Amino acid sequence: MASHLPRHVAIIMDGNGRWAGRRDLPRCVGHWEGMNAVREVVEGACAAGVEILTLYAFSTENWRRPPEEIEALMGVLQAFAEKERERLAREGVEVRVLGEIERLDEPSLEAVRRIVATTRGGDRLLLNLMISYGGREEIVGAVRALAAAARAGMVEPGAIDEDAFRGALLTGGIPDPDLLIRTSGEMRISNFMLWQLAYTEFHVTPVLWPDFTREDLFEAILEYQRRERRFGGVAAG
Ligand code: FPP
Repeated sequence: MASHLPRHVAIIMDGNGRWAGRRDLPRCVGHWEGMNAVREVVEGACAAGVEILTLYAFSTENWRRPPEEIEALMGVLQAFAEKERERLAREGVEVRVLGEIERLDEPSLEAVRRIVATTRGGDRLLLNLMISYGGREEIVGAVRALAAAARAGMVEPGAIDEDAFRGALLTGGIPDPDLLIRTSGEMRISNFMLWQLAYTEFHVTPVLWPDFTREDLFEAILEYQRRERRFGGVAAG
């Protein structure tokens, strides 16, 4: 693919419920179909040469959904981990799970531990699954950690700068996303990576998540490559 490939692509996977609704199917069928689209984008990201892929799989707000839907989503997560972990490890994909995962039930936590352990050290693609994740909660957690460090005398409050703050986030050490894709046409951030998206290019597509293919990913990357990023400055040359 052409020049300046996005190094880090983040995706808000939206539209599973509508995909199912249009077919008169229960919403959970849309989530199961959504799992296949995850496989598609992992392969697409590897083929394109993307280094980091971050997927918003379950938000802190999603805990407010009906218990049967939460159960279905946890079932999808467990099935994904079981079905994919060996294959992802063979493909060189390292999976990390970021969010308040202590809120997950034990089988889901175990699934998370297994997929993370099996894929550790993969060096082709870093796949971040954001689960029980909220951007505001992440920022509050970082503030708490820095305040505790200051109280313990480990850091001078005046020495807390952007780099220190970045390091205290769940994504500490991972570069910010270059490109954010949101499916199903919604124009919202929905509490996703609020700090990290400061200069990220957005691509919104009407495609519902279960229908999203690697070609849709390539199209988003091509559109990104046609844009000029200025990070608040002026155009070069
Ligand atoms: C939003 O669609 C999607 C979610 C809340 C869950 C995303 C989960 C998956 C794609 C399952 C597979 C993921 C992994 C990593 C195993 P929605 O339900 O809000 O759809 P709607 O807006 O049309 O109702």
